[in-house]
Amino acid sequence: MSIAKLEEAIGQLIDETILKVNDPSSIDTANAEFALVYLREMTISHKMDKLSDEITSTLRKASILRAFHRDTILKQLIDKLVFDYGSKVLVETGSFLAHSSEYIAWKYKHLRVISIELEPSYYELAKRRLSIYENSQVIHGSSDSVLESMLKDTNFRDSISSRLPIFFLDAHWYDYLPVAREIELILASNVECIIIVDDFKVPGHDVFGFDNYGPGKSIDLDLIFPVINRFGHCKVYLPSYAEDPDLLLCDFIRGKCIIVCDVKNSGKASKLATSKFFKRNFNEIEVSFSVIHQF
Ligand SMILES: C[S@@+](CC[C@H](N)C(=O)[O-])C[C@H]1O[C@@H](n2cnc3c(N)ncnc32)[C@H](O)[C@@H]1O
Repeated sequence: MSIAKLEEAIGQLIDETILKVNDPSSIDTANAEFALVYLREMTISHKMDKLSDEITSTLRKASILRAFHRDTILKQLIDKLVFDYGSKVLVETGSFLAHSSEYIAWKYKHLRVISIELEPSYYELAKRRLSIYENSQVIHGSSDSVLESMLKDTNFRDSISSRLPIFFLDAHWYDYLPVAREIELILASNVECIIIVDDFKVPGHDVFGFDNYGPGKSIDLDLIFPVINRFGHCKVYLPSYAEDPDLLLCDFIRGKCIIVCDVKNSGKASKLATSKFFKRNFNEIEVSFSVIHQF
């Protein structure tokens, strides 16, 4: 098959996939995701390093659509962090098919993107998919041990401190849930940063979905408070935008928790937390020692 024909066939497949993704009533998420990965694989295996602009932009569009569950407020938060507060690094735990990390790597050329994935096949796919972005890196391993060695490395710590790193914690699905340990490692590093925990329970707003893997393994305030309580330099926020009409664009709405870590309480992270945008969309949660949790 000639490259031109292959490009045409890929274009059609992508269009069909995008149509599906665009019409929530016909979403077959798994098929759409695998179609996208298949297309990316095809382009790589046919050494089509020079894709037509149309196809390249359509592939990006697919990523843009899928990233962060299409949560426009979360995307705006990252825009603000990068453009207004000077974030220079984003660390994602749990790459999966690299939907969010491709969106980030493509959109913010000056942001360093590091994504950590445990499952070897997802790691391979994410690595290939992100290989065309110079600002990105995918690391294989369990997020907690990778984060531990990264944050112990003084060169790495120096390279991210005062650059308001964003930690997007999205590594779950299996028996071991690393979220609490990830937060502990980040807070112990004393780096001023913003932590976003995905799939988080938002009490009183059932519209936000969250992950629950059984007793003691629900992604919620009870899980993180014991860690937060041990470190005095952070504030916890949950979304208040459940009724926002933009949410209708999401394929399914997921809760999240934002942890603002600012040792001096006067840096960029604290400024973000007092900004109009942040106050309009997130509520501060009082961290209370009275929460009983077995950890
Ligand atoms: C919800 S998906 C991530 C989705 C991705 N962040 C996105 O926005 O498209 C969860 C991913 O975390 C990975 N994962 C689960 N436990 C992990 C761990 N301990 N370390 C690293 N990755 C892990 C899973 O294999 C899966 O790919």
